[in-house]
Amino acid sequence: MDELIFFTLTFLLASFSIRGHARRRIGTVQLNNLSAMTKIYTSVSEIDFSIKDLPKMPSPKRVLMVKPTYFDVEYVINPHMKDHVGRVDKMQAQNEWEHLLDAYDEFGFDVNVMNGVKGQPDMVFCANQSLPFIDENENRKVIMSIMHTPQRKGEVDAIEAWYRKEGYEILHLDPEKVTDFEGMGDAIWHFKRRLLWGGYGFRSSMKAYEHVSALLDTPVVALELVDDKYYHLDTCFCSLNEKNVLIFPDAFTDEGLEMIHKLYENVIEATPYEAEKLFAANATCPDGKNVLIQQGCTDVNQKLRDAGFSVHEFSTYEFIKSGGSVFCMKMMLW
Ligand code: ARG
Repeated sequence: MDELIFFTLTFLLASFSIRGHARRRIGTVQLNNLSAMTKIYTSVSEIDFSIKDLPKMPSPKRVLMVKPTYFDVEYVINPHMKDHVGRVDKMQAQNEWEHLLDAYDEFGFDVNVMNGVKGQPDMVFCANQSLPFIDENENRKVIMSIMHTPQRKGEVDAIEAWYRKEGYEILHLDPEKVTDFEGMGDAIWHFKRRLLWGGYGFRSSMKAYEHVSALLDTPVVALELVDDKYYHLDTCFCSLNEKNVLIFPDAFTDEGLEMIHKLYENVIEATPYEAEKLFAANATCPDGKNVLIQQGCTDVNQKLRDAGFSVHEFSTYEFIKSGGSVFCMKMMLW
């Protein structure tokens, strides 16, 4: 009997300390000479702010796209790629990519294009190699990614060289402390506010956000991803504007969903079919009004229109073969 009480107590203590550890990570991180406050939110009970009280941030007006010259499915690093190795229609991919490029141009964005790199077939997904931002003094900076998969590590240098040429201040995570962080694929800015939504579990680690939060001097709401079909936050979470978000709920934990519902006034949900097969939540809404989305998302599109958005459909079928769609085919920049 004594033994039973002992084991029960030990178990309870252990589970409290695991939960306590996982729940709140607020502290000071030393980054070379810089020491900054980090704030990572992992459950709704910790949320001690409202969106309207957060500092404002201008929305980006530049777009970067990488030419799909070398785009292909050559390996399998997510479940969507499985049946598509060697099956990309290159002409069709080029057409799809150009239509998207023209759309950003028509919406009045400053569109920038860079060449791909031979042997890096996923580089066209240029949301992944970096996380750019503008600081409170209007300095343009970028945190470079540490790609999770060896196949994609070679993309980062080429993207970094582009930022350097454009005059951005380049920041690196310490590879001894952070094993993986896949940029805007997992780290998504709240529309026009200094708040970052950070997905983790498959391509970025929770640990990365302590360092990212310190470099940005910005709080992070950390969302654990639980289904490998939704391996990047941008496959299941689309920040539409300050009050609206489009998500696929099954990709998150209950804690994550509670935080999303607490901080957004309106949460639009994609159906499993549209989320998985049409990458509905990989849409993008660069101006808070116009949503660019893979064609055929009938259910989501109606919900978006009901919420006051204008919907623009694009074919990205060739890129969906690789596990990406509209959102990850570009990088928004200041
Ligand atoms: N094949 C690429 C990969 O698995 C697709 C990346 C798509 N990007 C995204 N942010 N979802 O890494």
